[in-house]
Amino acid sequence: MYKAKAYSASSEMSPMAPTTITRRDPTERDVQIEILFCGICHSDLHQVRNEWKDAMPTVYPCVPGHEIVGRVTSVGSEVTKFKKGDLAAVGCMVDSDRTCPECRAGLEQFCPNFTLTYNFPDKHLGGVTYGGYSDSIVVDERFVLRVPANLDLAGAAPSLCAGITTYSPMRHWGVTKGKKVGVVGLGGLGHMGVKIAHALGAHVVVFTTSPSKREDARRLGADEVVISKNADEMQKHAGSFDFILDAVSADHDINAFINLLRRDGNLTMVGAPEKPLAVSVFGLIMGRRSLSGSPIGGIPETQEMLDFCGQHNLTADVEVIPIQKVNEAYERLLNSNVKYRFSIDMASLKSE
Ligand SMILES: NC(=O)c1ccc[n+]([C@@H]2O[C@H](COP(=O)([O-])OP(=O)(O)OC[C@H]3O[C@@H](n4cnc5c(N)ncnc54)[C@H](OP(=O)(O)O)[C@@H]3O)[C@@H](O)[C@H]2O)c1
Ligand SMILES: [Zn+2]
Ligand SMILES: [Zn+2]
Repeated sequence: MYKAKAYSASSEMSPMAPTTITRRDPTERDVQIEILFCGICHSDLHQVRNEWKDAMPTVYPCVPGHEIVGRVTSVGSEVTKFKKGDLAAVGCMVDSDRTCPECRAGLEQFCPNFTLTYNFPDKHLGGVTYGGYSDSIVVDERFVLRVPANLDLAGAAPSLCAGITTYSPMRHWGVTKGKKVGVVGLGGLGHMGVKIAHALGAHVVVFTTSPSKREDARRLGADEVVISKNADEMQKHAGSFDFILDAVSADHDINAFINLLRRDGNLTMVGAPEKPLAVSVFGLIMGRRSLSGSPIGGIPETQEMLDFCGQHNLTADVEVIPIQKVNEAYERLLNSNVKYRFSIDMASLKSE
């Protein structure tokens, strides 16, 4: 075992603060990674503040972070995909049972025995897993991804959650050229969703509550932008969408978006608000529309997404911050005041 530097929260009320954590020495199948950048996902904030206490109560101290990009510092004797010096990435999962039907299908995100990157029982060390707000991590090769060499690393980090979480449902629900696709909420996930839907060739409409994001939405790849609080603007799109991705982190009216779906259209929730949302079933019944959810994505699809990002030179729009600004960044995230993802430069941890 060795010591790694990290930032953790010690309770749901406390700010993130510097700490030291224990990491395992790499086993034969492990890859040890020096973390260079870690994105800040809104899930980090939900988890740190114990906002998902019913589904996934937080164990403290909590070291969040699951948008990890770094460089391999050592590999175990059985590792074949990576060598020292390679770029490597880790997303939301670090292990699964590998034997269940979901794992065999490459859909580890549905494995009943997966291990999430943070706040999940750690099979090696006991306690819980610690995430990417740290200078180093040790992960089984099977859960380590390759990073296309052309991508800017700070901007590539958010692909590991925001990218795959939007890519996976779009692929599942058949987003291609000729489809009309809505993206609700232009935050970290939403802006990646816009870029990916645009790269897949869809006609993309962004729904935002922030009029100031209108120009950005177009620059990011939106064909149209709707201010979702404006009922007239919304009405113009009634019954017209093949697919809508909802990436909103807080309570909101999803019926207004369900009504924009065409017959057999689908709205997928990827946003994970703390409280249940009210659904009017009539909106679903009338057009045989469907409402679903989607969690992250499996390891093969995450690699496919990274390769797709490489081909399209697609990265997140990031504001790079030192880790010392993480608490300020959380407040800004809560106020939708980031364009469009914070990416922590982990070199800043050296001075702690
Ligand atoms: N399903 C999964 O596997 C998965 C994976 C990662 C994250 N998530 C969840 O996805 C959600 C979004 O994460 P993120 O990191 O993209 O968050 P984010 O950067 O904070 O973006 C959320 C966006 O939602 C909109 N919004 C916020 N409050 C709102 C309100 N009260 N009413 C209407 N719109 C509001 C804002 O967009 P506008 O300013 O454009 O309105 C905001 O930018 C979080 O709940 C997160 O936990 C789920
Ligand atoms: Zn995330
Ligand atoms: Zn499994």
